[in-house]
Amino acid sequence: MFVSGQGSNLQAIINAVQKGKIKAQLALVICDNPKAYALKRARQANITTVFINPQVFVDRKKYDGEMIKYLQREKIDFIVLAGFMRILSEEFVRKYKGKVLNIHPSLLPAFRGAHAIADAFEYGVKVTGVTVHFVDVQVDHGPVIVQEMVPVKSNDTLSALEKRIHQAEHKLYPKAIDLFARRRLKIRGRKVVMAG
Ligand code: GRF
Repeated sequence: MFVSGQGSNLQAIINAVQKGKIKAQLALVICDNPKAYALKRARQANITTVFINPQVFVDRKKYDGEMIKYLQREKIDFIVLAGFMRILSEEFVRKYKGKVLNIHPSLLPAFRGAHAIADAFEYGVKVTGVTVHFVDVQVDHGPVIVQEMVPVKSNDTLSALEKRIHQAEHKLYPKAIDLFARRRLKIRGRKVVMAG
């Protein structure tokens, strides 16, 4: 998994793996932020963690090359992004095509970008939600795996909405990862079809 921050999705995934709800092992956590709480969560669960310092690598390609070294060393089959605040290089995305999953806190293609929950709230939508998708070269863009709707209540606050979105994420992401791990997901152009 690649993370940068709180790691609440990481925690949900750790819990799901421990309960046997995901047919995969979480073998490696890569992080670009030494202060991320996610690192602490991973260490507590005895998962190998790697901090790769963005200041040490001159460009995205070099940084991603370092990540690839660790992925290969640990024989990683697929990658789950959860709040990873770096854009992946085209080289990386091409190399791991169809093997990188991301979660985004809106119903894509609405509200792409780093402030999706606040943007949806400010826009005044009555419905927002969560999207799990494959990663392609454009940010928050690749084929959609699953989406879940989260209604915005008339008396909602941003923090209340954020809380419900995160709760939805923590349920939806482990399910989507399990579908992928069981090889149930087939990508057909922009569409993801469920096999079996
Ligand atoms: C989540 O809302 C996710 O959708 C977005 O970044 C946030 C990460 O939260 N991409 P956490 O680090 O998993 O708590």
